[in-house]
Amino acid sequence: MNKKIVILNGSPRKKGNTATLVEAFTKGAESAGNTVTEFFLNSMDIHGCKGCFGGHSGKECPCVQKDDMAKIYPEVKNSDIIILASPLYYWTISGQLKTALDRLFALEEGEENLLRENKSSALLMAAEGNGFADAVLYYDHLMEHLRWKNLGHILAGGNMDVGDIKGKPELQQAYDLGKSI
Ligand SMILES: Cc1cc2nc3c(=O)[nH]c(=O)nc-3n(C[C@H](O)[C@H](O)[C@H](O)COP(=O)(O)O)c2cc1C
Repeated sequence: MNKKIVILNGSPRKKGNTATLVEAFTKGAESAGNTVTEFFLNSMDIHGCKGCFGGHSGKECPCVQKDDMAKIYPEVKNSDIIILASPLYYWTISGQLKTALDRLFALEEGEENLLRENKSSALLMAAEGNGFADAVLYYDHLMEHLRWKNLGHILAGGNMDVGDIKGKPELQQAYDLGKSI
């Protein structure tokens, strides 16, 4: 309740299966009095990390690159919960989501680590099959590194085309997870 939630949605399909999971989660979270801010990464101008190790966590935009990550940094910094949402692409998260996550590294560099502060997270994914193991392994390792509380995974297999996820139990699970926050 009264938590600030940021969703990083890495699907390129605005009305796709991941977006439907995100919508269900958001409805649940808002019904419990939380505030949700979603970033649809595919529509944003976000470039890959340059690996310069030039980040300054204390700055408003901590990265040397000036692009749409400038909109995400303050929201992530001030959030309680960060939801990672993605379709399964070649057994892992989408490039859109990975690119944004790499760029969050700038918040870990410099004066103080602003990414590792008392945050929680959950993973929402959709896929044609059920080969989520590598994506979950990556996500769980990331949570350990960031020291974010892992609120779990909602993995919706059996969904290829837009609309396939309609009426599936994972939507209720996403709603319930949102409502539990
Ligand atoms: C580039 C690409 C790679 C994919 N790789 C996988 C995969 O490894 N395993 C799988 O089960 N589905 C795979 N899929 C299918 C998507 O995960 C599936 O269509 C999913 O529902 C898309 O989610 P969205 O509607 O949110 O975009 C892939 C689709 C694309 C376009």
